[in-house]
Amino acid sequence: MQLTAFVRIAPPMRVDVAFAPALASPAPTAVVIDVLRATSTIAQALDAGYEQIHCCADVDDALTLRRELGRGVLAGERECVRIPGFDLGNSPREFLEPAAELAILSTTNGTRALVAAAERAERVYAASFLNLGAVAEVVREAGRDVSLVCAGVLEAFAMDDAYCAGRLAALLDGELTDAAHAAVRIAEGFKSSEAGLTASQSARNLLAAGLDDDIAWCARTDVLTVVPRLTGTTTLAVAISL
Ligand code: MLT
Repeated sequence: MQLTAFVRIAPPMRVDVAFAPALASPAPTAVVIDVLRATSTIAQALDAGYEQIHCCADVDDALTLRRELGRGVLAGERECVRIPGFDLGNSPREFLEPAAELAILSTTNGTRALVAAAERAERVYAASFLNLGAVAEVVREAGRDVSLVCAGVLEAFAMDDAYCAGRLAALLDGELTDAAHAAVRIAEGFKSSEAGLTASQSARNLLAAGLDDDIAWCARTDVLTVVPRLTGTTTLAVAISL
């Protein structure tokens, strides 16, 4: 008698890059990238010991949440500068020590991209250069199709996020869409993380705001092993923790 063995071969993981949140394709996994600076700040804050970062799209949502919870530090920026009345801005260098267990964060693009991704994907992670390799490992292990979502600037292409997405796409053993191939080509065009970030309008905005040191800080690659992930949603915020 002849036995026939059926071996199920899993299709390769599809890796797409959305150069702006509105371009994100449906995928079970989304990785949000706002390398200058929201996702770098989130990674740094969780590594420092914050237990949760509640990410709000709007300043009013952050204020309401702080009032409702009665705890947590308020953090965030508009035009790179700390929001009036908030405890902290959006510099990762302000999150080296936990000032509370919880931070409530609202930024121009990054926290909005996280809120939007939470509506579409089963799993959402936050990536930056600080934790690039750690995020790549988790996504590779999951083996599910992934959308690398660039937060961009006001729904437009941002070089810093596209560059970081290209570096991440190159680390994933997946089948790249045309957009992911384009991001990898962008990444190949720069000699270093700092060069890739410095070429962006986001970096020029930080320079204009006197926040030059944040660019070099956010360019440091694989210095953290934390993988921030979506762990809850409410009407006011999405919760990110480890
Ligand atoms: C954003 O969310 O747009 C950024 O993180 C802006 C910034 O650099 O603070």
